[in-house]
Amino acid sequence: MDKKKRVKITGTGFYVPDQILTNADLEKIIDTTDEWILTRSGIRERRIAREDQATSDLCIEAGRRALEDADLEPSEIDAVIVATNSPDTMFPATACYVQSGLGANHAPAFDLIAGCTGWIYGLIVAEGLICAGTARRVLVVGGEVLTKLTNWKDRGTCVLFGDAAGAAVVEESHDEAGILSHFWKADGSLAGLLHLPAGGTRRPATLQTVAERLHTIHMKGNEVYKHAVKRMGEASEEALKRAQVSKDRIDIFIPHQANSRIIEAVGERLEIDREKVYVNIDRYGNVSVACIPIALHELRQAKKLRPGTHVLLAAFGAGFTWGAVVYRW
Ligand code: COA
Repeated sequence: MDKKKRVKITGTGFYVPDQILTNADLEKIIDTTDEWILTRSGIRERRIAREDQATSDLCIEAGRRALEDADLEPSEIDAVIVATNSPDTMFPATACYVQSGLGANHAPAFDLIAGCTGWIYGLIVAEGLICAGTARRVLVVGGEVLTKLTNWKDRGTCVLFGDAAGAAVVEESHDEAGILSHFWKADGSLAGLLHLPAGGTRRPATLQTVAERLHTIHMKGNEVYKHAVKRMGEASEEALKRAQVSKDRIDIFIPHQANSRIIEAVGERLEIDREKVYVNIDRYGNVSVACIPIALHELRQAKKLRPGTHVLLAAFGAGFTWGAVVYRW
């Protein structure tokens, strides 16, 4: 039997809007404090998209940077996957705006909605496309403009989210680098704990849904917290088992940046040293699907990803969905 192809990341890039909203700025809008936000979430500031910027605008810039990094022309991409929970429009897919904006003229393009796990799901789908011979080079983008879907009167959610996009080019690996294993799962019975209730076919937009702010993020924070710790831990353990890589061989752990306390709890559960756990939530807030590709790019810029470095990626999000990837750089 043929050995399964290995798939690796050959370019990364990200984009964040210029405007910064600090916790001190939030103190002026809602009843909160910098201290509360920082101790409960680890967030100091987040980026806010301009009024004229939609998710695809952020994704196009991130995608362009990843393509440049991989030294590829847009026309060399065989598929564009955009993971997002804040699409430009209900349809067509945000990925189509990205495909056209980049000039990726030979690529089919589709969105992937899987909560904050979307970029991990996208990476796993890209691996599948390449292993099946359906595509040779896939652009996996994760982008969000969540601040336009936030209820700025709900202090339990509006302090948490930010806007950003991150991207990676994925290709077949001809060396030892690449995805060693993955694990992904979902439990739709818990959908109501984190969702955007209206605007779809279940509750189409009406004056009442707008008045009740049902077109914004609704979340049972405490419940989400508990599930996130458990599921990211389980996914990581399962992916490590499948890769036959022990925890102590992980050099860098990149968990979904939902909340510094969740990140800490998952790290402790996995017994991964604090200094190996990547954290950038202080600068961007929860940017959902964008946080893992951003972390990968920042780590590369800091020269922390060297040949042979073992990286563990894990995420959890609305759905619920969760997943993990073990990767050798
Ligand atoms: N500023 C000040 N006080 C706030 C506040 C804010 N921004 N938001 C909530 N509070 C208050 C609440 O009203 C509550 O007050 P009360 O006790 O008088 O009723 C108190 O703080 C505690 O609220 P609670 O919701 O229990 O806080 P918490 O410790 O669970 O922290 C979250 C809230 C949202 C930070 C936390 O639940 C969390 O991070 N959950 C996971 C969210 C997440 O990551 N979602 C995305 C997953 S992909």
